[in-house]
Amino acid sequence: MKILGIESSCDETGVAIVEDGATIISNVVASSEELHAKTGGVIPEVAAREQIKCIIPVLDEASVDSFDAVAVTVGPGLIGSLLIGIETAKVVSFALNKPLVPVNHLIGHIYANWLIKTPNLPAIALVVSGGHTDLVLMHNHKLIEYLGGTRDDAAGECFDKTARLLGFSYPGGPAIAREAQFGNPKAYNLPRPMIDSGDYDFSFSGLKTAVFNITQKLSRDELEFRRTDLAASIEEAIVDVLVSKTLKAAKEMGVKTILLGGGVAANKRLREKFTKSEFSIYFPPPFLCADNAAKIAAAAYFQFQSVPWQEIKANPSLSVIPGVS
Ligand code: KG4
Ligand code: ZN
Repeated sequence: MKILGIESSCDETGVAIVEDGATIISNVVASSEELHAKTGGVIPEVAAREQIKCIIPVLDEASVDSFDAVAVTVGPGLIGSLLIGIETAKVVSFALNKPLVPVNHLIGHIYANWLIKTPNLPAIALVVSGGHTDLVLMHNHKLIEYLGGTRDDAAGECFDKTARLLGFSYPGGPAIAREAQFGNPKAYNLPRPMIDSGDYDFSFSGLKTAVFNITQKLSRDELEFRRTDLAASIEEAIVDVLVSKTLKAAKEMGVKTILLGGGVAANKRLREKFTKSEFSIYFPPPFLCADNAAKIAAAAYFQFQSVPWQEIKANPSLSVIPGVS
């Protein structure tokens, strides 16, 4: 079965065709990231306008000729951006009389793994994106159990906000990761919030505050001089918490497989630390960790549930497991 996927939740416009949830036939992504770098972050109105400009050219470039169903991200995300993809998907589905499948963007991040190699289930999945940090236990494609998530900032948000304090532009995660390669991760003993909390929740706002307090005390020149070590220490603190809590969940749930997904899963240090564990670790290549429509089409294949187009609505605050998380 070939599924046409459409993703427009934030600043990426994606269209893809995926066969049987695993084989990418086409996958086109246009990003307005450079525009947002100029303003230090995504301005929702600007992102939505870019979505309008990009959606038809991206649809054209994806050479959409034959497919059996349409899948679209319905949330979470920015309302203006989501609506562009949703309305486009409705039109395509109605005009060509194809079933329409609503997809949760966060569940999509997990399914990016199926585009590389089929993981064994059950598995623990860690979704780490710009707006979300969630741990779930995936028993099978129909039963996904919520274990925990962030109580305040997401891991990606912590990368982005601390990067800003260090003077890096948006998005901060890749900038910190680039700089961190040359720094000493032990230079600053930053907090590892909730690392021993005994549950599967996360908190990153205290780490952000700790970095704020350090940078406030530094002059411009001192900050310049300390930036590399600070970047390495920040990355290490975030990665330590994510790895420690995810491994703990896998051990306690008696699961052998761990799936990573979301923009932060592109982080090399995170991948290295997970790879050293005794678990079977899956992570998508960086271009599939970032927002794209192939993961949306893959998720739709494994969780196929079509809905009449009239009933599909954007849900900007959709959580990974609605009603539970
Ligand atoms: O999943 P994603 O592309 O978009 C959302 O759904 O939010 O995630 C974007 C997030 C941003 O916070 C960005 O800074 C972070 O992923 N990110 C990284 C890396 N690449 C992207 N964080 C750490 N290291 C990276 N290499
Ligand atoms: Zn995402």
